[in-house]
Amino acid sequence: MSKILVTGGLGYIGSHTVVELQNAGFEVVIIDNLSNSSMEVIDGITTISKQKPLFEKLDLRNKIEVSTFFQKYQDIEGIIHFAASKAVGESVDNPLLYYENNLNTLIYLLQECNKNEINNFIFSSSCTVYGEPDSLPINETAPVKKATSPYGNTKQISEEIIFDTCSVSNLKSIALRYFNPIGAHESTEIGELPLGVPQNLVPFITQTAAGLREQLSIFGNDYPTPDGSCVRDYIHVVDLAKAHVVALQRLLGNKGVTNFEFFNIGTGTGSSVLEVVNSFEKVTQQKLNYKIVDRRAGDVISVYADTKKANEELGWKSEKSIEESLLSSWNWEKKVRGL
Ligand code: UD1
Repeated sequence: MSKILVTGGLGYIGSHTVVELQNAGFEVVIIDNLSNSSMEVIDGITTISKQKPLFEKLDLRNKIEVSTFFQKYQDIEGIIHFAASKAVGESVDNPLLYYENNLNTLIYLLQECNKNEINNFIFSSSCTVYGEPDSLPINETAPVKKATSPYGNTKQISEEIIFDTCSVSNLKSIALRYFNPIGAHESTEIGELPLGVPQNLVPFITQTAAGLREQLSIFGNDYPTPDGSCVRDYIHVVDLAKAHVVALQRLLGNKGVTNFEFFNIGTGTGSSVLEVVNSFEKVTQQKLNYKIVDRRAGDVISVYADTKKANEELGWKSEKSIEESLLSSWNWEKKVRGL
């Protein structure tokens, strides 16, 4: 059984990926510093997969501890690197925190990959690297545009760091450029649990429906889109998690065309904010209190994925509809709030 390190494995996407890795027969060791997660997530994972993942509480910024970790676990065959900060607004206010947390940690991990001959590395990237696209849907040949936030910049720089490392070592890597992950595991054992006021749309919607927030603000209805609100590609987190498993199998089976590859991971369908709200109301039978407010600084107008490369080369395709995704988000919120 191959042992795979999942950094940030107690986080939202990380925890769902751990479950899918275990389902596919991998043994998982998780590193997490619990900065945006909790130990209870391990129980959720274990309940679903009937296997308890190995766990080390560790902050990847501590280079010495990272090195000690790899001395302890000498049989790791691949790494899926989620651990990173991801709040766009916070990154604008505190850029150095983002550059330290998202870049130093990557460098330390890659140094350990070289030292310990771990040659399979999957990186959590983002559609944010495309900025405001020139044409839709976006495929992987679209240019990477100047980032609009330090967070986005860390994703671009990370891809460059990995590319350069792959060019001079045995490292093989795949960067998955996620579109907007939503939803929760159907068991409601794991899901998204943002600390404080949610910055992302769907957790704000579910918390509003659950009565934790009074009203959802829709940021702008005067964009050049069919209904005036921004368009995104919302993908079920379990579909996204499965993309990591096939990407890992591609690396382990030496199936990559080049040492560094990147794939869009989305559904291929764009949904506007108003469409998301309407779908949520329809599938959950909840009336949502919302109002239209000014645009949010930094939002792009419209992004959705061309998934042909992932479909054809990775052999992966998203399966779940936006309705299923929203319903699972709501079921998770209800479970967490005891509703
Ligand atoms: C952003 C980042 C993305 C990052 C993700 C992680 C950009 C361009 N995108 O995605 O790279 O991976 O965060 O957190 O930097 N909205 C509302 N009301 C709300 C919240 C959101 O109307 O209360 C709208 C936004 O204006 C947007 C859509 O909902 O049009 C989705 O927003 P959000 O969930 O924050 O994700 P992104 O901004 O697309």
